Amino acid sequence: MSTVHPPHHVPVLLDATLRELAPQKGESYLDLTAGYAGHASAVLNLTHNYTDSVLVDRDEYAIAHLQHLADQGVRLLHTDFASAARQLSEEGRTFDVVLIDLGVSSPQLDQGERGFSFSHNGPLDMRMDRRTGITAAQLIQQSSVQELATIIHEYGEEPYTQAKHLAEVIVANRPYNDTETLAALIKQHYRGRIGKIHPATRTFQALRIAVNDELGQLRETLPLLPKLLRAGGRVGVISFHSL
Ligand SMILES: C[S@@+](CC[C@H](N)C(=O)[O-])C[C@H]1O[C@@H](n2cnc3c(N)ncnc32)[C@H](O)[C@@H]1O
Repeated sequence: MSTVHPPHHVPVLLDATLRELAPQKGESYLDLTAGYAGHASAVLNLTHNYTDSVLVDRDEYAIAHLQHLADQGVRLLHTDFASAARQLSEEGRTFDVVLIDLGVSSPQLDQGERGFSFSHNGPLDMRMDRRTGITAAQLIQQSSVQELATIIHEYGEEPYTQAKHLAEVIVANRPYNDTETLAALIKQHYRGRIGKIHPATRTFQALRIAVNDELGQLRETLPLLPKLLRAGGRVGVISFHSL
């Protein structure tokens, strides 16, 4: 595996996150989407409590990047956050501050080989955890037009007629090996005005959400959060779409 990482991943809403979660010295921290530790480093700098803190990510590149925090005593869990939340609650662990920063990291999008991006060509993969599950290419291969239309409509928020049309075109031209081919096909067949955003953006978002079962992960995890909180604990969830 390539473990080349960009030096920086700029964490979103960092000031607001620190203000709202107000981490205090000595408090324990659970980051369920630790990524490149933008939020985690800032929180741990305030709490100075490494040994009672747990960082989770299902992405092997992110976990490799977090190793320096493990060296300071933080526990790393290389798994999906629903499994991590189940495991930690079974262990009876509780935390003062919990954060979930949903979605993909910019390094995942920037590395074509991960298959999330139509601007950096790569295999049509999109799995955050490449040890498990099916790739986006396999998902397309296995899906009916109806199933694909539902994915594009529900997870990509394309109007249903557009989603159905794109699903028909995608199924008619499969199989796919790379992201650029799929993106070009969507652009060619997209109905209506093409604005500033690439017309494949919403379909790629939809496939990514389906491949990683992102909504299922959240559905399983949210009910476990109260069990994972200490008295007076705070939870933050950052999301950039309205699904
Ligand atoms: C938006 S990034 C988080 C960035 C992080 N807050 C930072 O400042 O570097 C989302 C991260 O969560 C991970 N992720 C997304 N869904 C996950 C899940 N269900 N379980 C575990 N990790 C997940 C992704 O691999 C990615 O590294």
